Amino acid sequence: GVIEIPVVVNVLYRTAAQNISNTQIASQIAVLNADFAATNSDLNLTPSIFQPVLAGNTNIRFVLDAVVRKSTTTTSWSTNDAMKKAPKGIAPSSPTTKLNIWCCNMGGGILGYAQFPGGSSTTDGVVIDDNAFGSTGTVTAPFNKGRTGTHEVGHWLNLRHIWGDATCGNDLVGDTPLHNTANYGCPASGHRSTCSGTPVEMTMNYMDYTDDACMYMFTAGQNARMQAVFAAGGPRNSFAQP
Ligand code: ARG
Ligand code: CA
Ligand code: ZN
Repeated sequence: GVIEIPVVVNVLYRTAAQNISNTQIASQIAVLNADFAATNSDLNLTPSIFQPVLAGNTNIRFVLDAVVRKSTTTTSWSTNDAMKKAPKGIAPSSPTTKLNIWCCNMGGGILGYAQFPGGSSTTDGVVIDDNAFGSTGTVTAPFNKGRTGTHEVGHWLNLRHIWGDATCGNDLVGDTPLHNTANYGCPASGHRSTCSGTPVEMTMNYMDYTDDACMYMFTAGQNARMQAVFAAGGPRNSFAQP
């Protein structure tokens, strides 16, 4: 069936520009819905060798539930979850039934980060830098198509990086090829890993590190791994309740 996920966006801003518009927030929800339904307009760029493993519609949908805004004197944030708690941050709203997304200015060139399933509900959700949030407003190329959100929600639904965070590592998905390491920029398609079997790398997968314009697909195996978190006994089953 369809899984509809209410989304609470928590915006922490020091400058007026960091207080992103409702339009920019809506653009991120729209990208998530397109990418998880496989209706994104760039899906047709998928090389023919990977078309047999495309996910298709995951039937995971995102509905904006609320926007919470808070002014801050913090100039930049790190991955220590301070944005999610007192005194500086915003505590999540109903984190066992709603996806919380924090939008704030991340330091060190970090575009975002996510909490995997099974962690504390007090810090559950994803964080996206204000300049990588959605596809309009203050987004900055080459991370201006909302794919940081897609990538982080992929982690939130238990997906690993496609290279398995190790040389020729394991992402626990059967239909993704082995990758030597992360890919950046916009690689020409067809380059082979030097891993076992020398498979062609799937650099256009949302769980690689390529530019937003150069990542546009999940695989069926990734979809199955995401669906499993909603199953009875799964770590996000509370999101699948009617
Ligand atoms: N570095 C971040 C992470 O591992 C996000 C990468 C997003 N990539 C992109 N093209 N938007 O979670
Ligand atoms: Ca920023
Ligand atoms: Zn990642």
